[in-house]
Amino acid sequence: MTDQINQSGEPTANTERVFIFDTTLRDGEQSPGASMTLEEKLEVAELLDTMGVDIIEAGFPIASDGDFEAVSEVARVVKRASVAGLARSAAKDIDRCAEAVRKAVHPRIHTFISTSPLHMKYKLQKTADEVLDMITASVTRARNHVADVEWSAEDGTRTEIDFLCRCVELAIKAGATTINIPDTVGYTVPEEYQALFETVRARVPNSDKAIFSVHCHNDLGLAVANSLAGVKGGARQIECTINGLGERAGNAALEEMVMALRVRGDRLPYRTGIESSMLTRASKLVSAVSSFPVQYNKAIVGRNAFAHESGIHQDGMLKHAQTYEIMTPESVGVAKTSLVMGKHSGRHAFKEKLKELGYELGENALEDSFTRFKDLADRKKLIYDEDLITLVDDEIVHAHERIKLLALTVMAGTGGPQSAALTIEVDGEKMTHQATGNGPVDAIFNAVQALVPHHATLELYQVHAVTEGTDAQAEVSVRLAEEGKSVTARGADPDTLVASARAYIAALNKLMVKRGKNRPEIMAG
Ligand code: KIV
Ligand code: ZN
Repeated sequence: MTDQINQSGEPTANTERVFIFDTTLRDGEQSPGASMTLEEKLEVAELLDTMGVDIIEAGFPIASDGDFEAVSEVARVVKRASVAGLARSAAKDIDRCAEAVRKAVHPRIHTFISTSPLHMKYKLQKTADEVLDMITASVTRARNHVADVEWSAEDGTRTEIDFLCRCVELAIKAGATTINIPDTVGYTVPEEYQALFETVRARVPNSDKAIFSVHCHNDLGLAVANSLAGVKGGARQIECTINGLGERAGNAALEEMVMALRVRGDRLPYRTGIESSMLTRASKLVSAVSSFPVQYNKAIVGRNAFAHESGIHQDGMLKHAQTYEIMTPESVGVAKTSLVMGKHSGRHAFKEKLKELGYELGENALEDSFTRFKDLADRKKLIYDEDLITLVDDEIVHAHERIKLLALTVMAGTGGPQSAALTIEVDGEKMTHQATGNGPVDAIFNAVQALVPHHATLELYQVHAVTEGTDAQAEVSVRLAEEGKSVTARGADPDTLVASARAYIAALNKLMVKRGKNRPEIMAG
């Protein structure tokens, strides 16, 4: 590996073009629960077209009137890409498909039949000779409608090689311009799939008259690896879907195929026409319209694909992005790398994050904030920017703080009275008091009042959650007024009662700063 990787994702020199056939709207939509409305399909098709997809498979026109309409409309609106419809070998399927793609600038009919012994015997209940006749008849019929015909050998990877070669030869002879050999059940492995293409291309006499295509399902998690192997074996069309949507475990993911070819152009000298910076947008759109969430750690488009939490990685990233990133987030349409703050984050990333949020703390304040951040991160899974802001704001009050909260124990629940045992430090002097109250907050405030007597009146007490979830930080705001002056302070903690004590004490500290008094007891007046 070179130390300068192809971060821009630009195709490297001497590459061969491979065509991207997107079947999100057909095979993708066959995922249980992923059906899309006509408007949604049109939105996806337009985006795929703009993104540079070469062939958009828009649906299976014979399947329903809705599918027919969707293919027809996609064919009408797409201006650049070819638009394909799927058809079984039956004449009525092919004619319906031809009608649906009629308005496309570049129409394609994609017809298929099963060729494996298992499928022919149990699914089709046809002999091999019958299947051969159906291939000739279906491709010939499709060619009478359009010039661009794709033929697929369903369950191709479990088909006997001699029979597969005969099928392919006949399909090309009848006029197929693209030959697809799908791994319908996600069974093959890379070496085997590569060899399959090499063998078929070498043995079929008219193989040079068609483009070969890969179509891989992900049942063993090998769809992308198998597709790349097929390309090495001579295929020049890749069938794939956005987010890897598709039957069962899905199809090969378009975004993974495209970026593998771009980033590893040194090993895979092939290029696509895809504008990779649109990949994230396409992923989000397909996820939204299909209601299929993208797993967080999904390659290329998962929300963690460019996020780093561990301290070692964050430190490396801040020194040189290529230490832990093999492509730039911009190359796939993500604005920037995110350093996620969590319990594994280190000082370096914490400092950078605060800088980004507008805080430049001195060494001591930074150290204190970092300790409190680690403490919070141990108790809370997700640390949001708002959590950090609250924590640092707290820290600033903390720097001027003469009254410090040391410990708090609260007895609450039914059957009152509620009580609070509070220990604080005032100018270094530790003091404890236990008070009761009308509720736990009242008990806490009474304990503070007893330890730091004062005449300030409580004007506001407000609680809200800083972030979401039951482990959210509670933020309490307290406003105290004394002699026409008022101060507001906040206290944050996952425990609302501790946050309340912090807020009250912070308000007293602020009041002291504001009045310029030196000793808290002076406040008692
Ligand atoms: O997986 C498959 O075999 C298919 C064909 C219809 C191309 O989707
Ligand atoms: Zn499929």
